Amino acid sequence: MQVIRTIHDLRAQVRNFRRGSDALVGFVPTMGFLHEGHMSLLKAAKEQCSLVILSIFVNPLQFGPNEDFDRYPRNEKRDLELAEAAGADFVFMPDVKEMYPSEVRTTVSVTKLTDRLCGASRPGHFDGVATVVSKLFHIVQPDKAFFGLKDAQQVAVITQMVQDLNIPVEIVPCPTLRESDGLAMSSRNVYLQEEERRQALVLSQALNKAKEAVLDRSIVTSEALTALIRNHIQTAPLAVIDYVEVLQFPSLQPFESTHSMVNDSLIAAVAVKFGKTRLIDNLILSVR
Ligand code: PAJ
Repeated sequence: MQVIRTIHDLRAQVRNFRRGSDALVGFVPTMGFLHEGHMSLLKAAKEQCSLVILSIFVNPLQFGPNEDFDRYPRNEKRDLELAEAAGADFVFMPDVKEMYPSEVRTTVSVTKLTDRLCGASRPGHFDGVATVVSKLFHIVQPDKAFFGLKDAQQVAVITQMVQDLNIPVEIVPCPTLRESDGLAMSSRNVYLQEEERRQALVLSQALNKAKEAVLDRSIVTSEALTALIRNHIQTAPLAVIDYVEVLQFPSLQPFESTHSMVNDSLIAAVAVKFGKTRLIDNLILSVR
């Protein structure tokens, strides 16, 4: 495994690999502090591609002024050990100056899909994500890029961006990995105090309740599903809800009742703060 810190070196290595070969290049972009969720993306990339490139870059552009950019967890040594164990071939770890050498005057903005959920509660976040991911796609030029459905809105935004801008990469969505008790894995889980960690279980529990209600058709309206999720989350005294939404998936458009559904998938998505830590989770609920 090779650690590469400059765009120039990464391009040279990929060019070298591609010379005379049509083997597939797989790419897994991350912000590091790797956990099993990230590892599952690397595993999928390894299964489907001959060369696997992992990037680790905490992207300042996607953090708001009062968010956790400065305290975002970092552990380069451990990340490299995990990347090696997962079979990554190259780890691209640029610093901020390498990615943003001067003031950014060109950004990528995906409309509509970013009006709700995290797009509404984190203004500018998805412009930062779309901009850095499009830069990374231009630097790495992968055949396939692997993204977790833990961030389902991010998958929708990147898929739309790639389609709209004709970026020649296939986006591969991968399932959310969870702790044994149901908490979705996240680099931010390390922020949680013991009691917060215990109460954070209400997220996956509430989403599962909604899934059952959709499947057994005991609840059909968006309003009642949202209320069910909200009520369960509010049983945790430390939970402060940012949003609870049930939308059509993958369009992320609202609906009134599952009776009138054209698409047969819904997504229930939540963002909840425990102390200083904002957690997100979602579950895709199949209507049929
Ligand atoms: P980060 O939060 O580090 O996540 C990197 C990738 O891992 C994303 O595709 C995310 O959806 C996936 N992931 C996170 N938790 C997961 C879990 N529990 N199960 C499965 N996959 C999981 O997402 C970002 O970084 C950034 O926005 C990035 C795309 C790198 C752009 O800066």
